[in-house]
Amino acid sequence: MQQPTPDPDQEGTQAIDRRGFLGAVAVAAVVPLPASAAAGGTAVKPLGPTGVPIVVNGVEHKMDLDVRTTLLDYLRDHLHLTGTKKGCDHGQCGACTVHVNGRRINSCLTLALAHEGDEVTTIEGLGAPERLHPMQAAFVAHDGYQCGYCTPGQIMAATALLEEPCGPTDADVRECMSGNLCRCGAYANIVAAIQQVRREGGR
Ligand code: FES
Ligand code: FES
Repeated sequence: MQQPTPDPDQEGTQAIDRRGFLGAVAVAAVVPLPASAAAGGTAVKPLGPTGVPIVVNGVEHKMDLDVRTTLLDYLRDHLHLTGTKKGCDHGQCGACTVHVNGRRINSCLTLALAHEGDEVTTIEGLGAPERLHPMQAAFVAHDGYQCGYCTPGQIMAATALLEEPCGPTDADVRECMSGNLCRCGAYANIVAAIQQVRREGGR
């Protein structure tokens, strides 16, 4: 059976339409959408309220931040407290551990503006070179580190652990510290340091 002869005018129209369609797709891919459209109709508010108070290492600061700023980035980039480390930025390594109102948290997983009125303690607020916290001194005594990158988070987790219902054995300590990874593998010495402080009742 003979196929109908294509109508050149019609084919040209379809070709233009395809080109037009592909062009529109390409433009849509590179032209940024308005914030309200990108957020599915909910307007993105990049700046947070001004003057929101937060206490870090005993000093009150007024936050004036992009609402998306994590507590970790606030501490490091705004307050320049770089002792708190960014390892994974996804809650998987514990390098960013700080205390909020006495309890340990991963500061990469929480927004700074969520901590209005909270008291945050970082490794800089725990001790000083001439006045080490007992846990810092124990890490030094037991060589509880190699490169030291994970160490601030390990020490913040370890000091919080002193106030937690952790069992007495080394295995209990390893379990309680399992959220803090050490790529250098200093785990045995870290546990030894923590157990010494626990035995001596250090705080
Ligand atoms: S940087 Fe926060 S858990 Fe790894
Ligand atoms: S001491 Fe290097 S990652 Fe722990």
